[in-house]
Amino acid sequence: AVRRAITGRIRDGRVVLSDLTMTDREIRDIGRICIVACGSSYHVGMVSKYNWERLLRRPVEVCLASEFRYCDPLVDDHSLVIFISQSGETIDTLAAMREAKRLGARVLSMNVVGSSIAREADDVLYTWAGPEIAVATTKAYSTQLVLMDLIALYLGDLLGTIEKTEYDTILHELEVLPEKLERVLASIEDVKYFASRYFNHDSIFFIGRNLDYAMGLEGSLKLKEISYIHSEAYASGELKHGTISLIEPGTLVVALGTYEPLFDKAMSNVVEVKARGAEVLALATEPFKEKMAHTADSVIAVPETHPVVQPSLGVVPLQLFAYYVALQRGCDIDKPRNLAKSVTVE
Ligand code: M6R
Repeated sequence: AVRRAITGRIRDGRVVLSDLTMTDREIRDIGRICIVACGSSYHVGMVSKYNWERLLRRPVEVCLASEFRYCDPLVDDHSLVIFISQSGETIDTLAAMREAKRLGARVLSMNVVGSSIAREADDVLYTWAGPEIAVATTKAYSTQLVLMDLIALYLGDLLGTIEKTEYDTILHELEVLPEKLERVLASIEDVKYFASRYFNHDSIFFIGRNLDYAMGLEGSLKLKEISYIHSEAYASGELKHGTISLIEPGTLVVALGTYEPLFDKAMSNVVEVKARGAEVLALATEPFKEKMAHTADSVIAVPETHPVVQPSLGVVPLQLFAYYVALQRGCDIDKPRNLAKSVTVE
C-alpha cells in the first residue's frame, strides 16, 4: 500500500502532485495551516505537525474534527485546512470541512475515491490504499503518513524552506521505505514473542518525545481498540508532572526511542520508570538497540531512516504488537466491540 501511495508521485528526483490544483501563488499565500481529523487520522496529523513545522517553518495546528466544528475556528481565505479521513464519510470531519469552507479556507482532503469529503473538498489527494476492511486502520494510517511527507516536501520546495540535500535525503528514504517496511515485517517473531509475554497486563503506557510521542498515540489507540487493554500515551517530559504516579512495580511501559536527536532523553526516561519498578519494552533504531538494551528489559529494533520518515517504520511493530496481544486474548481483531469502520453519526 505504501509503495502504491508513493509510486507515480516521485519522478526524476522530485515530488509530483499532479492531483493538486493549488497554484504556486496560492501556496505562497498560505498564512495558516490546520490539520483536522479524528482517531488514527488525527494521529497522522500529530506526526505531520512536527514534520511540517520543521520543513515548512510555518505554524501547523492539529485539531480534532469534533472540536473544530464547534470552536468558531480562526481560519480565513489565507488558511490551508487539511482534512484527513480514510473513509471520507466521518461526520465530524465532513461537518468541520463545511465550516472551514464557509469561512473561506482552502480545503485539501486525503481519502478514498468517491467519498463525500473527497467530493466537497477543493483538492483531494488519494492514498490509493484500496479498501480497508478491519475497523482498526493500519494501511490507511501508513499511506496517509507518507502522503503527508510528500506534500511537505512539495510545499517546502516551493516555499524555499527545505535545503536541497535534506529534500533529496527524505525523498530517497521515502523511495526505499517499502523495502525497509518489508524488513520490519520479516522480523515479526520478536513482536509475537513480546505479545505473548505481555498480553495479560491490565494497563500499558506508551512514552516518547517529539515524533515518538505522536507515534505512541497511535500505538496506544491501536492496542486499546483491539485488545481492550487500558492504555495511554504520554509525552515523556510530562511524566514528572503527574503521570509517573501511575507507575508501580510490574507496570508495562512501552518506551519509544526511535527519534534519534532525543535518544538520550528517551533513555533517561526509561531509567526513571525503571527506578519505579516498571517493566520496559523499548523501541529503538538498529544503531541504538544495544545502548537501549543496557536499561530497558526488552528492545525491538527497526531500520534507521531520516527522522521525518522514522514514524512510518516505528509504527509497524506497534500495530503488530496490538494485533498479537489481541490475538492472544482471543479478541475479534477485525471487528472490535462497540466500534464501526466509519463513524457517520455524531
Ligand atoms: O475514516 P476516518 O479516517 O475519518 O476515521 C477516523 C477514525 O474513526 C478512525 O481513524 C479510527 O480511529 C480507527 N478505526 C482507528 O483504528
